[in-house]
Amino acid sequence: MLKSPLSWMGGKYRLRKKIIELIPEDHTCYIEVFGGAGWVFFGKQPSKVEVYNDINSELVNFFRVLKYHSEEFKAWIEKDVASREIFAAYHDALPQYMTDIQRAVKFFYLIKYSFASKGDNFGYGTSKDPNKAIFNTGFVQEVRDRLRNCYVENLSFETLIEKYDSQGSFFFCDPPYHKLAQYKDKFHREDHLKLLDMLKHIKGKFLVTINDHPEVREWYQEFNIQEVEVGYSVCREAKGRRSFKELIITNYSS
Ligand SMILES: C[S@@+](CC[C@H](N)C(=O)[O-])C[C@H]1O[C@@H](n2cnc3c(N)ncnc32)[C@H](O)[C@@H]1O
Repeated sequence: MLKSPLSWMGGKYRLRKKIIELIPEDHTCYIEVFGGAGWVFFGKQPSKVEVYNDINSELVNFFRVLKYHSEEFKAWIEKDVASREIFAAYHDALPQYMTDIQRAVKFFYLIKYSFASKGDNFGYGTSKDPNKAIFNTGFVQEVRDRLRNCYVENLSFETLIEKYDSQGSFFFCDPPYHKLAQYKDKFHREDHLKLLDMLKHIKGKFLVTINDHPEVREWYQEFNIQEVEVGYSVCREAKGRRSFKELIITNYSS
């Protein structure tokens, strides 16, 4: 199973096997509406047509650069080392003065060398060695090849769903959690309700993953809901880590 090259807040690393089992076979177009690191996208078998989407343009630029400029990306990243000073230089560099390749390198470096992959603070430790991604760049070619029959989009979910809905469409929706940590692009209650309203009226099929919250259960009550236990760890201390429940909601029976 191919791995995503990124770790990402809310990434479906642990749940992906379960989600992949539930993808209906009868779709022609697989649409990942809230792409993030794309753990399900990279883990599953390719569909006839695929769409990766995220509103975060740095993520989209990263995948675009791996597709079109994989050699240049590798050449840049392989020259770096895990360093607090380099981290600070990338962190403070203004994207408007960088090329797309430099932006992708900055994005990747900050994710790989920050605490909890949030890109904010240099992550280091005496018992954990630095991430090896800048030395083992074999993933670049794999990702490039995997994106072969995929449209990479940078749209907000409502525009994307409208554009790609058809009877053969399958939407995998992993929106930001309800009332929990936020991303650069904020996702509010109204956005959740807009997503729900759109999903109620699509021609295709959907699978939503979201945190288990009473309001979410109420919103999606007419659909199939199953709960799953997920390990979760963005805390440095083991005692601060906890596991919590997530919901998998579909408009089809599995
Ligand atoms: C829970 S994460 C997705 C994680 C992904 N499934 C993975 O495995 O890494 C949610 C993503 O939704 C994106 N997002 C936030 N608001 C959005 C919007 N209005 N339209 C599309 N994507 C959005 C965020 O940038 C974030 O990457």
